[in-house]
Amino acid sequence: MPHVYAVALEKGGVGKTSIAVNLAAAFARLDLRVLLIDLDAQRHASRWLGIDTEAITVEDSFLGVAIQHRLLSQCIVSTDERIDVVPAHKELVALPDVLNRSMGGGIYTLRKALQSLTDAGRSYDVVMLDLAPARGPVLATALAGATRCIAPVQAADLVLQSLRDLAESVVQAHEFNAQLRGLSVLRNNYAPRATLDRAYDQALAEGYADVLLQTIIPPRALIRLASGAQQSIFTYRGSDDVAIREAFLKLTEELLVLDGGSASGTTL
Ligand SMILES: Nc1ncnc2c1ncn2[C@@H]1O[C@H](COP(=O)(O)OP(=O)(O)OP(=O)(O)O)[C@@H](O)[C@H]1O
Ligand SMILES: [Mg+2]
Repeated sequence: MPHVYAVALEKGGVGKTSIAVNLAAAFARLDLRVLLIDLDAQRHASRWLGIDTEAITVEDSFLGVAIQHRLLSQCIVSTDERIDVVPAHKELVALPDVLNRSMGGGIYTLRKALQSLTDAGRSYDVVMLDLAPARGPVLATALAGATRCIAPVQAADLVLQSLRDLAESVVQAHEFNAQLRGLSVLRNNYAPRATLDRAYDQALAEGYADVLLQTIIPPRALIRLASGAQQSIFTYRGSDDVAIREAFLKLTEELLVLDGGSASGTTL
C-alpha cells in the first residue's frame, strides 16, 4: 500500500501545487517510486512537470477514469523528474458533477483506481494528489483514497477558516477510509521571525499543535524560478539555494517517520 498524500486546502494560492510537485520530487530523490495525480483543472502541477497539457485528451486525465473509459494505468505519463503523472485536463471542472452522478457519490473512485494499479503491474511507494482550491466531491473522493492529508498554510486571511473546514472533512472521511491517518498542517512560505507569521504560529499552536509538522518551508524565489522553468527545485540548476531543497528532504523524513517507511540515498 503506497503512502497516498492529498495536498488540500480550500484557500487558494497557499502552495498546494508547489508542495505536491516538489515533495513528489524529493521522494523521487530518495529512489522511491512516485505517482502524482493532478486533480485540478488549472493543470499547474502537470505543466510544472513539463507535460504539454494541450496534447492531453480529457480521457487521459482522471476524468477518463471517473467516467470509466480508462484505467488509471492507461493515463500515466512518465517525466524527466522520475515522477509518473496522471495529467489534468481543463474539463476536470466537470469532475464534481461526474462523481456526484456516480453510485454513492463516486467516493471510492480513486481508491479503486489505485487498487487497480497493482493488477496492471504498476506499484508505487508514494502517490501525491494535487487538489484544486475547493471542497466538495473531489476532495471527498481524494480523502477516501488517501493515507494522509497535508494542508499547506500561510499567514493569510481565511486560512484558519479553510483549515477548520478541512479538518472537519478529514474527520468525515474516516467513515469511508480507515487507512486515513489524519491531517498534517505544513507551514509554507513561512519566515518564523516575521511578526505576522509569529502571530499565526500562536493561532496554529492553539488549534493544531498535535497535527503541526515540524518542518517549515521557507519563502524562496527558487520555487517560482523552478515553476517557470517547468522543473522541480531539485532539477532546476539556475540557483544554488540549498536551504529549500533541504527543507523538502527534511519533510520527506518527517512524513516517513510518521507513516512508517524508509528510503535510501539522498542527492541534493
Ligand atoms: N515557499 C514559497 N516561497 C516562495 N513562493 C512560493 C512558495 N510557495 C508557493 N509560492 C508561490 O505562491 C504562488 C501560489 O503557489 P501554488 O500555486 O503552489 O498555490 P496553490 O495552493 O496550489 O494555488 P491554487 O489554490 O490556485 O491551486 C505561486 O506563485 C508559487 O510560486
Ligand atoms: Mg494549485
